Amino acid sequence: MHEVRETLSLVEEVEALLSEDDGWLPQLANVASALFYRLPDVNWVGFYLLKGEELVLGPFQGKPACVRIALGKGVCGTAALRKEPVRVPNVHEFPGHIACDTASNSELVVPIMPRGEVVGVLDVDSPRFNRFGEEEERDLLAVVRVLETRVDWDRALKW
Ligand code: SME
Repeated sequence: MHEVRETLSLVEEVEALLSEDDGWLPQLANVASALFYRLPDVNWVGFYLLKGEELVLGPFQGKPACVRIALGKGVCGTAALRKEPVRVPNVHEFPGHIACDTASNSELVVPIMPRGEVVGVLDVDSPRFNRFGEEEERDLLAVVRVLETRVDWDRALKW
């Protein structure tokens, strides 16, 4: 069984979790869990995967969330359309923000682009305003870079 190893950096822990080819679903499920339990002050961590013109809810930790998000909508759809991370210090001021958990006050979404094209996003929510700065964005981008190379995205997109 995988265990959370506090002595490892975040990226090292994710690399360790992905070292075996367990398949995309257990891989993403374990990474969502590792991030959720490791990052302080987060209330939702998970993945949305691209299906046609929509992002569809994937493995996550936190309260039940909306299942479909159109490209360009909400923070997730905006990050996927812009093909760049979107950091929102106060979600209540973000036009079109989709509220899944009323406890969320700030959010960071990083698009996953294994071959330059978006296959999904990593979404992290916090009850703390302004929770995500440059450092957090850099760390989660590094996590996403590992996911881009270690996950079989062709299979994940056929789900
Ligand atoms: N807040 C997101 C929706 C997903 S939930 O946060 C889990 C958005 O605006 O896209």
